[in-house]
Amino acid sequence: MLIRRWVLLMVALGLSVGVLQAAPPQQEGGGLRNPLNLSGPDPWLQYYDGYYYLATTTGSSSLTMRRSPTLGGLKTSSPVQIYAETEPSRCCNMWAPEFHLLDGPNGPRWYYYYSAGTSDTLDNQHTHVLESAGTDPMGPYTYKARIFDPVNDTWAIDGSILQIDGALYFLFSSWVGPNQSLFIAPMSDPWTLSGPRVLIAEPQYDWERSGLNVNEGPVALYHQDKVFIIYSASYCATPDYSLGMLTWTGGDPLSPQSWVKHPEPLFERSDANGVFGPGHNGFFTSPDGTENWIVYHANDSAAGVCDPQRTTRVQKFTWNEDGTPNFGVPVPLTETIALPSGDTGGDPMPDITQALTRFAAYGLDEAYLRHVDVAVRVDFTINPAMDARFFLRSGLAETAAVSIEAANMPGYYLRHQGNAIVFAPNDGSAEFAAAATWWRRPGLADPNWTSFESYSQPGKYIGQQFGVMALVDQAAISTNRARADATFQLEGG
Ligand code: AHR
Repeated sequence: MLIRRWVLLMVALGLSVGVLQAAPPQQEGGGLRNPLNLSGPDPWLQYYDGYYYLATTTGSSSLTMRRSPTLGGLKTSSPVQIYAETEPSRCCNMWAPEFHLLDGPNGPRWYYYYSAGTSDTLDNQHTHVLESAGTDPMGPYTYKARIFDPVNDTWAIDGSILQIDGALYFLFSSWVGPNQSLFIAPMSDPWTLSGPRVLIAEPQYDWERSGLNVNEGPVALYHQDKVFIIYSASYCATPDYSLGMLTWTGGDPLSPQSWVKHPEPLFERSDANGVFGPGHNGFFTSPDGTENWIVYHANDSAAGVCDPQRTTRVQKFTWNEDGTPNFGVPVPLTETIALPSGDTGGDPMPDITQALTRFAAYGLDEAYLRHVDVAVRVDFTINPAMDARFFLRSGLAETAAVSIEAANMPGYYLRHQGNAIVFAPNDGSAEFAAAATWWRRPGLADPNWTSFESYSQPGKYIGQQFGVMALVDQAAISTNRARADATFQLEGG
């Protein structure tokens, strides 16, 4: 089997409740610019009961959910951990979340589908599902089942739900020789297959075979009496990743003949708009239900790959005369799009890449605090620039203080471990919260700047020792150099 190379910058991401800083004042004008985040692959977004809900691939052992009453507010919402897994067979590499409100034995429940496997390889990915306790998409959730065809229990990812004439079907992607293809199987309930899988699409056109031969990320789309399966084609690590379409002919959904593939991609890269590899989408409606929207991920350059730097984007779409969807062209990040009909919000961060906080180092020109994966240091040239952008959140342990979340590593916060200063995934513990909470103090080198005193270790500050970032006792911050190393200017945010 071709081993899929998915760059996992986030090794084990334990996310938990992000205490929200009061969102900055909304930008006037009712418009919105993409992206919604700086890390958001395989997004699934739903508007339900007055809120937007967004889940994206974490690549870790935790599943998350963001919630906001406005679409723009998703930019400043912190991912909340809704589930963490320790069972080795399904602990890791959590991909492609989708949450569907379906009838369970005890009434309507949210079924949160995702792919996961073992920690040592990507070759053990399978499809799994959680069940909510009630009708709140935030949970709580419990693990329900691994979904598989016992006759063909192979590698499987990107599980999704199709409903036709009251019957439930499971859609997913798996390998057949060199082709990652689409399958359908009947379901007896939201977590059990009641029959064998059936192959309904394999990559046959050139636009589906860039990098690897791939059909994945299937998602149902319904319009009038038509049913479509929109899917992602080509290797996710190429700029040619795009969306294709299967149209139901009206026959038995479990018959391959009932699905006709459109010969051209419906949504693809736009070099003119600077959007590459748009795909792995979902659909949602505007708050007043009058508009159809697509949510998808993409990269900002042709060099972009299948990693956490893929960002979440949204745009409205329409329908052609023949009833098929018209997704148009992926919009550029510079374009302000109209908000969904009925959305009374704005955009708290029109350019999220610039709006987020940077920590300028005192006494140095154009030097900023940054992370390099989980390590922390001050650098002059920072690539990717997003490694020096942070959300300044209300303190996890004390809301009058602050916590510092990495903008492109959602759920990772600046904390001390002993005297070391690192970024680490928030595990929801009180110990983590305390170690990741900081008091903003007048700068030790200049009172008009800022220094950060530890909440859990009063009298100790973020500074440097022996040339590396460290938690330093104020008594040891006695030279101009030491005071400068502990002093920052907050920019943006
Ligand atoms: O982003 C992780 C996985 O990579 C997704 O589940 C799949 O669609 C893509 O190929």
